[in-house]
Amino acid sequence: MIKEWYKDEIQRVCQKVNSLEYDMVFGMATDSHLDNSMEDFAENIKAVSQKVNFKCFAHMGDFLNGNLPRSVTKKILKEQMALYLDAVAPKPFYPAQGNHDGFWGDMAIDSEWFEATNFTNEYKNVTRPEGKQYFYADFEEEKVRFIIVGTFFYEGFDDGTPFKKRDGIDDVQALWLENEAFNVKEGWTVFLFSHEVPLYGFEEKSKYEETPIHNGARIFQSLVKKSKENKFDVAVWFIGHHHGDNHVCIDGINFVTVASQTAYVPQLWPMKFGYYPERELNTKTEDLWEIAVWNKKEKTVNLIRFGAGLDRVVNYGGEEA
Ligand SMILES: [Fe+2]
Repeated sequence: MIKEWYKDEIQRVCQKVNSLEYDMVFGMATDSHLDNSMEDFAENIKAVSQKVNFKCFAHMGDFLNGNLPRSVTKKILKEQMALYLDAVAPKPFYPAQGNHDGFWGDMAIDSEWFEATNFTNEYKNVTRPEGKQYFYADFEEEKVRFIIVGTFFYEGFDDGTPFKKRDGIDDVQALWLENEAFNVKEGWTVFLFSHEVPLYGFEEKSKYEETPIHNGARIFQSLVKKSKENKFDVAVWFIGHHHGDNHVCIDGINFVTVASQTAYVPQLWPMKFGYYPERELNTKTEDLWEIAVWNKKEKTVNLIRFGAGLDRVVNYGGEEA
């Protein structure tokens, strides 16, 4: 049952999306953290899907809260994936891994994540290296590539186990991005999705080369270079993790953070340049997710916000904003 306070919002977002000219529409959420409103969230997506032609739905990670015992992690991850798959069916669902997804204490249990998300291998348009959290999905008709980037990796101790989770892109993934995922054809458009921003201190352009994120600056520079050489557009790199909204453009790449779906844990840390949407339980601002409306000719991505927060517009392909 749709809650009363969501009805106008469902109407509003559907009307707005359908009033725009577009080449592709997709949905997005992040940092749901097992929120109490997950059932409402699923109902709201289903209601909007009846009127809006979603191509697919993405999630930028933090389905869980971390620090759960291994068996519980396994069970709940599966349940969360099932919830999203059902909510967006029959459209595909592309999940990115968050820092709270699939780890037990300080130990990495990436196999649980892979097992819970291996449904992506059944999608014919997905290329995913065996046992990895990162992959890309091609949409031939629209000439669009989604790249789901893993922004965490595991450092081994000398005896092999356990492993320590670190922010960053490991060397194997970095090579895969440079040699495979970023090999995009001329005239195509790329959207990237990850939990963590690949560049710490990304608010200050002059600082990004000093990012402590392993391989962050390397990957960013490679993306900029490849897009110029191969003549493809990079529309937006979507990020979760921060629980607030932000938009920064560096060397023509738009980094857009999307605020958390959960209304319970906002404002955990200060956001120097971003903002946290106001949240109030039992109002439309308890839910929060995004509808991206892409117009290839105009080089715009309208971000229509369901629930808390504001609609945004990203213009790409021009001079730096
Ligand atoms: Fe989070």
